[in-house]
Amino acid sequence: MKEYNFELFLIGITNQIEYVSNSLIDTLNYSYEFAKYLKKTDIVVLNGELGSGKTIFVKGIAKYFGVEDEVSSPTFTIVNEYITNNINIYHFDVYRLDNEKQFMNTIGTEYFENGISIIEWGNIIKNILPKDTIYIDISKIDDNTRNILIRRNV
Ligand SMILES: Nc1ncnc2c1ncn2[C@@H]1O[C@H](COP(=O)(O)OP(=O)(O)O)[C@@H](O)[C@H]1O
Ligand SMILES: [Mg+2]
Repeated sequence: MKEYNFELFLIGITNQIEYVSNSLIDTLNYSYEFAKYLKKTDIVVLNGELGSGKTIFVKGIAKYFGVEDEVSSPTFTIVNEYITNNINIYHFDVYRLDNEKQFMNTIGTEYFENGISIIEWGNIIKNILPKDTIYIDISKIDDNTRNILIRRNV
């Protein structure tokens, strides 16, 4: 199995890790491994242009937790819930929201206390997210290559 160095991030030796993914499958495997380190109420933000692979990253996390539902961007509903045996996963896509205020008026932060929240385009609501939120930036290098940067304390 590939070494991804998530441990260094987990125990705080480093506050960022970077990975170059060469394919969709590569990203799926990477996020599947990343998911092993998530705790019950962690919040993960995914930023990156349309088609960069944010939803693919969520698919890998969902797969790790045994989600059987189809995972797709909840662009119109803003949030999808995937209920698994031992954990709730809330998959947000806040692309259509303008700001934090709109998020508070329509969705609210209650979800954050009840499961793992993964937020596509999360920078839009950055000001209401807790300090320990994990930020993931995905950027396109070419058709099949993506740079994945995972950070905290940003
Ligand atoms: N290395 C890669 N990682 C993730 N997706 C990739 C990669 N290379 C190509 N792709 C393609 O990029 C697209 C990513 O789509 P998606 O995850 O829905 O993007 P987003 O949610 O960021 O808009 C998919 O069509 C996928 O096949
Ligand atoms: Mg998406």
